[in-house]
Amino acid sequence: MHDKLYDQLTTTHPNNAFTLANVVFIIEIPPAISCSCHSYRLSSPKTTSVQHHSRLPFSSLLSTNTMSLLSFSPATLDPYYHLFFTVLALFISGLIFLLSRKPKSKRSHLPPGPPGWPIVGNLFQVAQSGKPFFEYVDDIRSKYGSIFTLKMGTRTMIIISDAKLAHEALIERGACFASRPKENPTRTIFSCNKFSVNAAVYGSVWRSLRRNMVQNMLSSSRIKEFRNVRDSAMDTLINRLRTEAEANSGDVWVIKNVRFAVFCILLAMCFGIEMDDEAIEKMDQVMKSVLIVLDPRIDDFLPILSPFFSKQRKRASEVRKAQVNFMVSFIEKRRNAIRNPGSDKSAMSFSYLDTLFDLTFEGRKSTPSNEELVTLCSEFLNGGTDTTATAVEWGIAQLIANPEVQTKLYNEIKSTVGDRKVDEKDVEKMEYLHAVVKELLRKHPPTYFVLSHAVTEPMTLAGYDIPLDASVEFFSHGIGEDPKVWNNPEKFNPDRFISDGEDADITGVTGVKMMPFGVGRRICPGLGLATVHLHLMIARMVQEFEWTAYPPNSKLDFSGKLEFTVSMKNSLRATIKPRV
Ligand code: HEM
Repeated sequence: MHDKLYDQLTTTHPNNAFTLANVVFIIEIPPAISCSCHSYRLSSPKTTSVQHHSRLPFSSLLSTNTMSLLSFSPATLDPYYHLFFTVLALFISGLIFLLSRKPKSKRSHLPPGPPGWPIVGNLFQVAQSGKPFFEYVDDIRSKYGSIFTLKMGTRTMIIISDAKLAHEALIERGACFASRPKENPTRTIFSCNKFSVNAAVYGSVWRSLRRNMVQNMLSSSRIKEFRNVRDSAMDTLINRLRTEAEANSGDVWVIKNVRFAVFCILLAMCFGIEMDDEAIEKMDQVMKSVLIVLDPRIDDFLPILSPFFSKQRKRASEVRKAQVNFMVSFIEKRRNAIRNPGSDKSAMSFSYLDTLFDLTFEGRKSTPSNEELVTLCSEFLNGGTDTTATAVEWGIAQLIANPEVQTKLYNEIKSTVGDRKVDEKDVEKMEYLHAVVKELLRKHPPTYFVLSHAVTEPMTLAGYDIPLDASVEFFSHGIGEDPKVWNNPEKFNPDRFISDGEDADITGVTGVKMMPFGVGRRICPGLGLATVHLHLMIARMVQEFEWTAYPPNSKLDFSGKLEFTVSMKNSLRATIKPRV
C-alpha cells in the first residue's frame, strides 16, 4: 500500500497531482456549435500538431491570478469547424473592436510588442510559435527589449525582464506595483473571492493574512519548532532513495522522492495531525483535480466565449465542493484536538490552522469560514511543494554535470560534521552549500516568472503607461541569466558568490540581480522555510550518496518544461552509490 501510495503521490508522471505536464488547454466546443462529439482544441493555424504546451504555471495553483499562459495540444482539426469557428470569432471580435475603439488621443502608450489581431491580440502568435510561453518570451525579448506588451485576448500582459526595472517597480515604487490582477470566475471560487495571501489585492485583507502567515507560522523561531518533522522526513527520504536504488541497480528518480518529503512536511505543519497513507493519497488526488479545473481556458482571454463553457463551470463547482468536503474533515479533526487537549495523542503542539481558526482583523469581525480555511491551507501546501522539489531536481542535476562541485560540497560536509548526520545547525556553517543553493536558484528559478502583479493606480514605467487592468509579469529567469548583470551566466559556478565576489541580495533590497522568490512587498513569505528545506535536502542527499548520470556517462539535458513550475524536461533519473 505504502509503495503504491508513494508512487502515486510522488511520480512526475503526467497524471500526477502535482505535475500536469500533459493537461492541455482544451477548447471544447460545446454541442451548440460543435454538433458532434469532437473535442476541439486550439491549435496552430499553421500546423495541426503543436508539440509544446505553454501552460499556466506557478500562478495556476499558488495564485488565483492571471499570468495565464496558453497551452496548445497536438490536435487534428476538422478544417470546416476550424474555418467556421475562426470566421465567427473574428467577425464578432472585429465588431466589438470597432465599436469599443478609443480615439487615438485617449489610447495608452503601452510598451511595444508584436502587432496582434483585433481582440485576439497575440494569442494565435503564441500558439503558432509552438513553444512553451517562457521560450516564446525569451525569443521575442531580444527584439522588443526589456519591457514589452503582449495582448492575450482581452488581457494586456506587460513583461519585464530587466533587473533595474524590476528594482524600480518592486522596491523603489513597491507599493504601486504590489497588487494582483483581476482573476477569472473559476479562480474566484477557489480563492474564496481572493481570500488568500497570494491572491488578495494589495490592501488590508492581504496585509492581515500575510502578517499572520509570516509572524505566526514562518518566523525563524516557529520554523525551528518543526525541526523533528523535517528530521524524520529527511530520514524517510534517504531510506526511500536507498530502497529504490537497491531494487534498481542503483538508479533512482529524483523529483518524486523529494516532492514526497516536502509534501509530508508541509502537511504536518499545516494540519498538525497525523494522516494515514490513504488520506495523503486522497489529498493528492484532490489537489490534482483542482489543478485541472484551474487550467486556463480560451474564455479566460476571450470572455465573449464564456456562454459556451457552462459545463466546465459546473465541473469547477463540483471539484470545489469535493475539495471543501474532504479538507474540512481534517480541519475539524484539528479543531477538536485543540479544543480537547490530550484527546488526539498524535496531534502536534502547533499548526498553521491554529493561527487561522480565530483570526479576525480590522474591517472583518468574523473568523474564517471552513471554505476560507480550505483555501488558506491549499495555498500553504501548494506554495512550497513543487517549487522546492523542482529546485532540488535542478540542483542534483548540476551536481552530476559538475562533479568537481559535488566533491567540493561533500568535502565541506565531511569537514563540518565528520561522520555524524548533517543537521540544521551544521547547515548554517556551510558557506559552499549556501553558494550551491544560491547558484541553482539563480540559474533555475523554479518559477520562471513570479506571480502576476498589478498596479494600484495607473502608472508609468520606463516612459510607458501601465494601466490598471494590465498583468505585470517579471521574467526572473531572464534576469538570473542576464549577461549585463552576471559574468558568464551560462556557467554553473557557485564560487562566483565566494571567491569571485559576485554577490547578490536574494531579497533584492540592495539591488536586484536574481529574484527566484520575487522581491519587494510580495516576496515569497516561505523564503526562509524553503531555504532550510533546500539546504537540508541537498546536504543530506550528497552526504549519503555519490550522484552520477543515468545511463552512466550520459550527458544531461538541461532543457525545461513548464508544468506548475519549470522542471527538467526529462525528469531526472540518477545513479547513486552510498558513500560509506
Ligand atoms: C523553493 C521554494 C519556493 C520558491 C522558489 C517560491 C517562489 C515564490 C515566488 C516567485 C512568489 C511570487 C512573488 C511575487 O509575486 O512577486 C511566491 C509567493 C508566495 N509564496 Fe513562495 N516559493 C517557495 C516556497 C514557498 C513556501 C515553502 C511557502 C509556504 C509554505 C510559500 C508561500 C508563498 C505565498 C503565500 C506567496 C504569496 C505572497 C504574496 O502574494 O504576498 N512559498 N513564492
